[in-house]
Amino acid sequence: EKIEALAKQELESCTEIKALDDLRIKFLGKKGELTAILKQMGKLSAEERPVIGQLANKVRADIEEALGSKLASLKANAQAAKLAEEKIDITLPGKRAPFGKLHPLTKVENEIREIFIGMGFNIADGPEIDDDYHVFEALNLPPDHPARDTQDTFYIEGTNETVLLRTQTSSVQVHVMENQKPPIRIISPGRVFRSDAVDATHSPLFHQIEGLVVDKGITMSDLKGTLEMLMKKLYGNDCKLRFRPHHFPFTEPSCEVDISCFNCGGKGCSMCKDEGYIELLGAGMVHPKVLENCGIDSNEYSGFAFGLGLERMVMGRYDINDLRLLYENDVRFLEQF
Ligand code: PHE
Repeated sequence: EKIEALAKQELESCTEIKALDDLRIKFLGKKGELTAILKQMGKLSAEERPVIGQLANKVRADIEEALGSKLASLKANAQAAKLAEEKIDITLPGKRAPFGKLHPLTKVENEIREIFIGMGFNIADGPEIDDDYHVFEALNLPPDHPARDTQDTFYIEGTNETVLLRTQTSSVQVHVMENQKPPIRIISPGRVFRSDAVDATHSPLFHQIEGLVVDKGITMSDLKGTLEMLMKKLYGNDCKLRFRPHHFPFTEPSCEVDISCFNCGGKGCSMCKDEGYIELLGAGMVHPKVLENCGIDSNEYSGFAFGLGLERMVMGRYDINDLRLLYENDVRFLEQF
């Protein structure tokens, strides 16, 4: 009974599950105090033995029960402590991960795609790495043509044919016309590459959107109407377009198209260098030789084509004065759009 009282007292002050195990060994284990008593049972008289035996068994059962209930309560305490520690206040406002945004180049490109899809155009794709034939020769730029010099081309070494990074998306005109019969109505947005040093208005990589329409009876007025529709949807009904005669080997006649300055609307300011207008794109009627090169009868069909510089459109749209901002991925710049 003394052992039982002692055991219960020690149990009372025990606060850890591990320590509880030590107590079990101390009182009930093979070398434990109760076992020691049971081992001496042989020395007892026949009358004493059952009495002491019974008592010892009762003590053992009591201690075991006390150990068991102590273990249960310690476990319950531990569980409660853990739950309290892991408690989540679901009413606290969450921390938001910062949202990314579409790049301004992507935004304006998407707008332009939507406008052309609305006019019944399809989107065409072409290779960024192409051959001399598709980028130059089929577009009426034979190997010795001086206009090649104006497009500082990156050539790819180690090939027998001339392989290069396209300098203009006009190469997609050729791919499309080789694979598709008129009527053709496509735009092709994409990256182009020229060996230019980086500054506020130049980059060796930039974006163009090519347009091509080939059908019976297509004229320059279709070109004008299409471009005017595009610019009014993008920049509002007040913007004005100016068509200037120009020359491209793959269009005849050719023109460059300017838009009234986004800043001053045509009066002249520092943004347009007092010109009132900003150059946006090159265009013209597809040269009959280009149609023939692609197996399209130039007596039956005519077409127009244009190539616009996406960076120009974006810079005008958002009043950005340095092209490099579009490529540096500074989030302080990007999060403004
Ligand atoms: N490819 C020409 C350029 O890069 C633009 C252009 C496209 C002009 C289509 C006429 C027709 O300058």
